[in-house]
Amino acid sequence: MLTPINSTLFTFERNNKMEQQTEKKKIVFSAIQPSGTITLGNYLGAVKNWVNMQDEFNCIYALADLHTITVRQEPAKFRKNIIDAYASILACGIDPEKSLFFIQSHVNTHAQLAWVLNCYTQFGELSRMTQFKDKSAKHADNVNAGLFTYPTLMAADILLYQADMVPVGADQKQHLEISRNIADRFNGLYGNVFKVPEPYIPTKGARVMSLQDPTKKMSKSDENVNACVTLMDSPDVIMKKFKRAVTDSEACVKYAEGKDGINNLMGIYSCITGKTFEQIEAEFEGKGYGDFKTAVGEAVIEELRPVREKYEQYIADKTYMQECYTKSAEIAQKYSQRTLSKAMKKIGFVMP
Ligand code: TYM
Repeated sequence: MLTPINSTLFTFERNNKMEQQTEKKKIVFSAIQPSGTITLGNYLGAVKNWVNMQDEFNCIYALADLHTITVRQEPAKFRKNIIDAYASILACGIDPEKSLFFIQSHVNTHAQLAWVLNCYTQFGELSRMTQFKDKSAKHADNVNAGLFTYPTLMAADILLYQADMVPVGADQKQHLEISRNIADRFNGLYGNVFKVPEPYIPTKGARVMSLQDPTKKMSKSDENVNACVTLMDSPDVIMKKFKRAVTDSEACVKYAEGKDGINNLMGIYSCITGKTFEQIEAEFEGKGYGDFKTAVGEAVIEELRPVREKYEQYIADKTYMQECYTKSAEIAQKYSQRTLSKAMKKIGFVMP
């Protein structure tokens, strides 16, 4: 059993933190979809940074379950994925005593502001989103309105908290740009209602590629299981996936154009060990790809070992997790309501 949160203290301290420290510490917001097991790409591109930002910033994180239903979900599996993702993110090191970490659908301001922002977002700009084009091609039988307006819900997520910074992988850059445009447009009409957020895209790990086709992003929806490492893969499976990773025929560990497979493995290794590409090249000089792949596999196994162990503890204590997401959502609701009310008042709604 995990130590239960002292709920009075938790709420009181968190409220105070949000109220008093807003001026002092910058606000960070980010979210992840609970659409299946979390991948090494999610971890290196986003979640590892979320963990590292917790002391320096006021961090607010969410499971973007409303975004997930833009693709049809099987109810029991969806429910399980949400709880699994919550446990996994806690296991990565998100500390609910330091950061808010809630489930998006528990905070109703998100859907409300998303509707408002829909009315300030143009059809043309949403049509240009590459993720919309990709996903509608992939799910041609279900090109729903939610898939199209997905970026306005993301903008609402971010703008509700007056976030300064949004740590994401490179694939979310375009969504961050549209969020900034929406905020600018709204502010231009009504004065300073929203903080215009800055993307925080890491220099390394921002785009972890498939181990089977290193020209493609590593993705949980990849049909080839060897393409993607997940946080819950066993050490044996992780090692097998790295040993099978597609490389080239040069047998020289060097970061260079055209060596997508090796570049990707070097990026992963560098992200985990903190070594520069030059140091990695020196370490593997004269050695073959076999040695290098084993070293990358071992580094990933050791990085993820404590995550898997902590996941087992959290998933066994649903009461603790429920307390964490409920308390976090209560505070997020209160905080985000201020921005929503401000925006609606400016538009001219009669406030309750
Ligand atoms: P999602 O769930 O697809 O991914 C979560 C985070 O992981 C990053 N990521 C990667 N980074 C590096 N390499 C990869 N192969 C890789 N795959 C995924 C993503 O960039 C992301 O940071 N729409 C978002 C969730 C969201 C959100 C938000 C994010 C909803 N509201 C507001 C930021 C702010 C998404 O689907 O992420």
